[in-house]
Amino acid sequence: MRAVHTVKEIREALEPRRKPGKAIALVPTMGALHIGHEKLIEMARTECELSVVSIFVNPLQFGPNEDYERYPRTFPDDIEICRRHGVDFVFAPAAGEMYPLPQLTFAEVTRLSNHLCGSFRPGHFRAVATVVLKLFNIVQPQRAYFGEKDMQQLAVVRRMTADLNLPITIVPVPTVREADGLAVSSRNRYLDPGQRKVAPLLYRALKEGEKRIRSGEKDAAKIRADALRVLDETPLVRVDYLEVVDPDEIQPVRIVTPPVRIAGAVWVGTTRLIDNVLVGT
Ligand code: PAJ
Repeated sequence: MRAVHTVKEIREALEPRRKPGKAIALVPTMGALHIGHEKLIEMARTECELSVVSIFVNPLQFGPNEDYERYPRTFPDDIEICRRHGVDFVFAPAAGEMYPLPQLTFAEVTRLSNHLCGSFRPGHFRAVATVVLKLFNIVQPQRAYFGEKDMQQLAVVRRMTADLNLPITIVPVPTVREADGLAVSSRNRYLDPGQRKVAPLLYRALKEGEKRIRSGEKDAAKIRADALRVLDETPLVRVDYLEVVDPDEIQPVRIVTPPVRIAGAVWVGTTRLIDNVLVGT
């Protein structure tokens, strides 16, 4: 495993390794690697001949009052995890390497970016799409791996890839959870023990929504209300949104015909958690 920090180095390292029929995998991350990221890496390793993990806490995708400064940075541990999984290259550029000039060019996936997390984090998905497109251009992978936990991000990246005819297969990876259902996230380490205890309520609320759909309820408003009631259990959880959406364009629906996703975002103290479940046909 080799860690490189510049665009020139990763390009030069990959150039002789590009061979017809040999796929290069990219797993984009912001580091603070956990078992969710490890799942992406394992899939990349099984499906491709060569694997690249990028580690870059992208300043552009954090709002002015968000957690860019305190976002966990655990580079030595991350390197160790990548080594253990047999990753070929870690690409870990500094902010000045990714943005040597103020970025004036952006990738914007309209409509898909405008609601759910997009309405609470203005500019977030434009910044995610832009950094992912830059990483795609730098690494030029055949396959790229994204977690379903960040469902809207996955939809945005998929749509960008299709709209711009990028020769890359986007591979979705199911959400990895703790034993109590909490979706694993780098941000979970912000939670104190009391907050950690109530954090799985988000998943429980989504599952309650799923149960209502499975029992025949079609009115999204009623499904939302029942799911939200689960979160009333504690004053420690504050809801940003909880919506039933169609799985492709992730637009909120009023009448539910599966497949749909139920997606939610909540605050537990100063930590924002997101999660979603697929309710299939
Ligand atoms: P990050 O939050 O580090 O996540 C990197 C990838 O891991 C994303 O595709 C995310 O969906 C996936 N992931 C995180 N937790 C997961 C879990 N519990 N189960 C399955 N997959 C999980 O998402 C980003 O970084 C950034 O926005 C990035 C795409 C790197 C662009 O900056």
